[in-house]
Order: sequence, then C-alpha cells, then structure tokens
Amino acid sequence: MNNRFKVFVTKKIPQAGIQLLKQKGYQVTVHHGDIPISRTELEKAVAEYDALICLLSDTIDKEILSKARKLKVIANYAVGYNNIDVQEAAKRKIFVTNTPDVLTAATADLTWALILAVSRRVVEADRFLRKGRFKGWEPELLLGMEIKGKTLGIVGAGRIGQAVARRAVGFEMNIVYYSTQSKPAFEEETNARYLSLDELVTVADIVSLHCPLTPQTVHLLNKERIFAMKKGAILINTARGPVVDEEALVAALKKGHLFGAGLDVFEHEPEVHPELLKLNNVVLLPHIGSATVETRDEMARMAARNVISVLEKNEAVNPVNF
Ligand code: DGY
Repeated sequence: MNNRFKVFVTKKIPQAGIQLLKQKGYQVTVHHGDIPISRTELEKAVAEYDALICLLSDTIDKEILSKARKLKVIANYAVGYNNIDVQEAAKRKIFVTNTPDVLTAATADLTWALILAVSRRVVEADRFLRKGRFKGWEPELLLGMEIKGKTLGIVGAGRIGQAVARRAVGFEMNIVYYSTQSKPAFEEETNARYLSLDELVTVADIVSLHCPLTPQTVHLLNKERIFAMKKGAILINTARGPVVDEEALVAALKKGHLFGAGLDVFEHEPEVHPELLKLNNVVLLPHIGSATVETRDEMARMAARNVISVLEKNEAVNPVNF
C-alpha cells in the first residue's frame, strides 16, 4: 500500500472519489466542519498535504498559497475556478484542476428548469395553491410567457451555454449568442446568430448567463445592460453571481422592467439580496446547477483522478493553469 501521499478534502464529497484515492493507498482527510472551511484550517492543510480537493466556496488566494510546502495539486470540485489564484499556484508549480464536461448536462437542465419555472410562474403557482387560493380553473389565472418563437440570448457559448441552446431548439426558439469568439459549428447546429452583448440584451426575450467569472465579467450585466433588456424579458443566471449587478437587477424587477429572473447564484453568495426574497417573480435556488447524484459522483471521481495523475505522473487530466 502506498501511503506516501496525503490528500485533504475541504468537505465531504461523494465516496466515489474518496474510494479512488483510498484504493491508491493515500491518506485521505475529509474536513467535516463549516462551509467554507476556516482560513486557519485551510492554511494548515495547504502546509501539510500533498493534494487538496476544495470547493468553489474555498478562497485559495496568494496568502493561503504562501503556506504551501509540498502541495502539488489543487483539484477544484467545480468547473469554475474563480476561487483560486491560478497564476500564483502556477508560480509555485502547483497544478490547479477542475471538473469540465461531466456537469454540462446537469447544469443545462437546471438552467431550463429555471427558464420554465420563471416563464410559467411555476413556483408562484405552487405557493398560490398551497395557500388554499385555488378555487377552480380560471381563464386568466397565473398567465406566463410563451417560450415557442421567442429569442434566447446565450452569454458565453462554452460547453454549458451551447448545451442550453441545443435544448432551446426543441422548444422552437430563436437563438442569439455572445461569446469571446464566434462558434461556426455551433451556429450551424442550432441556427444561432452571433451578436455583440449590447445587441443581444436588446433582442433577447430570455438572457441566460454561462460565462466564467473573471475580472472582465464582473457586472457584465450592469445597470445599463439590464435596463437595455427588452421590457418583459427574463434573466437567468446559473454561472456566477457577480456577473450580474444584483442591485440593478432588483431595481429592474421592482420597476416591472423584467418579467422575472431565475437565479442559482448570487453576488454575495451564500447571502441573498433581501429584496430578491420579497419578489414573487424570481425563482431562487441554492447553487444546485450540477446537483444530480450522477454528476456529483463523476465530479468526485474526476477530482480524484486529477490528484492521482499529478501525484503519480506529474501531469493533470484537467489542468487549468499549465
Ligand atoms: C461549477 O462547477 O462551477 C458549478 O458552479 C458547481 O457545480
């Protein structure tokens, strides 16, 4: 048995991944405390372990990385890695890895759950019924927005954005998209039309965000762009909270400029803007985009495979910084 390597996991993740590490004979320590783990505990782990499996809620910044002594790999249990200073990790020759592909379908499906929940007022209708207000079928009860024939605006046509658009074809929607570069194969497949972001927000009935969080995408949907959206449009965010100026979104919702919003992520996660909680036309989810049993198992295996590959072969399966 090989117990040379010590792996620290900042929160309980599915056994599927832990098993792979244990089969290798590694010593695996799983933190069972708060989310996120305290900085003191994180510093200790970074100093004493060969590998770290962490969550998107763990901030791995320059200061934390300065404690690393023998750390070889940080495997983020997420596809997004904005929580990690990847350049600093690279300087210290520490691999950073993520979990791409395996969560694409689950996240695209959840995006659609939000699109349909907001456009057809599903959560509001459920609340209505539970309050005992359903007195019989009514011609104008809880009327929603029809999806067919409407325009879906995808912001960020990476794996998830494209998967959301593919599903939109089945709903007979028109698709427009904005991305750092145009994607001819995607256009061919879905009939999507490339637009600048400023154009996209003015033509889309539903704007769905799928870009990573970087310094360039903080408040990409700022006040101007939110208010430039069509009156009665819907905003969906399953990417990262800070991509949207939440204060401006609240204002647009309260003024009735937007039909509604579906949010799986928040600007100051896990805090939710108190005004959002009061609004009936928003559906709020606790960051569950990738939360299916199958996907979370596969993410755990993927994180473990990355750890094993770096520790055994000095190469990562899904590197983001080398
Ligand atoms: C990610 O992976 O970045 C999602 O936000 C959580 O699965």
